[in-house]
Amino acid sequence: MTKHLTILGIESSCDDTAAAVVRGTTILSSVVYGQTALHADFGGVVPEIAARAHAEKLDHCIEEALATAQLSFGDLDAIAVTAGPGLIGGVLSGVMCAKGISAATGLPLIGVNHLAGHALTPRLTDQTAFPYLMLLVSGGHCQFLIVEAHDRYRRIGGTIDDAPGEAFDKTARILGLPQPGGPAVEKAAERGDAKRFKLPRPLLNQPGCDLSFSGLKTAMLRARDGVVATSGGLTVQDQADLSAGFQAAVADILTEKARRAMLIYIAMNPATRSFAIAGGVAANGPIRTALMALCAGLDTVFIAPPLHLCTDNAAMIAYAGVERMAKAEVDDMTLSARPRWPLDDRAAPMLGSGKKGAKA
Ligand code: KG4
Ligand code: ZN
Repeated sequence: MTKHLTILGIESSCDDTAAAVVRGTTILSSVVYGQTALHADFGGVVPEIAARAHAEKLDHCIEEALATAQLSFGDLDAIAVTAGPGLIGGVLSGVMCAKGISAATGLPLIGVNHLAGHALTPRLTDQTAFPYLMLLVSGGHCQFLIVEAHDRYRRIGGTIDDAPGEAFDKTARILGLPQPGGPAVEKAAERGDAKRFKLPRPLLNQPGCDLSFSGLKTAMLRARDGVVATSGGLTVQDQADLSAGFQAAVADILTEKARRAMLIYIAMNPATRSFAIAGGVAANGPIRTALMALCAGLDTVFIAPPLHLCTDNAAMIAYAGVERMAKAEVDDMTLSARPRWPLDDRAAPMLGSGKKGAKA
């Protein structure tokens, strides 16, 4: 049955307006309208601007997704929509839009947790069997999850302060590199010497899988200020060396914590071992390579979905809808938008994960 379910997915929880049509595990269309230009002057996502842009663009985005899939509403089995976590105005725009379509067409409505969308992506792309280990690493999130079922997640560690993507963005800003910072820092780092600056690896000497990036951000600021104080500014080589040092520190932190998370996962004796990554930072080449090497050493399949499915998109929301509908889980008009919605209700809330907001 799951094979044939055709679902329209809608995503609007942060700064991407997205719609997609998925049939089983086949993506028939996936449209993403980014908002980077709208927020460029403000140094971050402005919730009010984001919500307005979602409200203006959602119907065009949905029209395009249906046209690309060569389908109309009558061909669908349900509408799946991100109902949280995220910026409340954006999530509301999506939920209201989905409710409107559901009311007009009679199609079932399915609310999806945005993080579940990311976490289930390995099943969309690689049909990965449960349980698998997942590292969600983006501009707003960083957590290790054991995905036991489409609706059962165990969070075994996460950031206690900032998310790595946020640290990449901040690093780019202090080095005078463009936004989004991740790709800019990665590019600059290619010509850099990672050993020139001694940068900390916070929490590495503490047990467990929790991570911290705020101390690294501060150390970057100090290192930059040190160079500026002695040389009066930053050369291209300084930018490259600082970028390389920062990226190596993030890769070391993620890899060591992933090794520990993997040992917890392996102790569960899964029939096949799989470790998947998702989120914007998963696009980083050296970080991917380090995690891949770790998996090879632990006899574990490494799954890195294609980049357009690692970052925010609606195909993952539609697919999470497929999984829910296959279990006859649908919502009704009482579906509400939730700015906060942890995947693992049993885990204690993290102190301040993702200062940029509840984006994922
Ligand atoms: O998952 P995502 O598209 O959006 C949310 O955070 O919701 O992730 C965006 C984050 C940004 O902070 C961006 O700088 C980071 O992912 N990023 C990268 C790379 N590409 C994007 N970080 C490191 N290396 C990259 N190549
Ligand atoms: Zn996300």
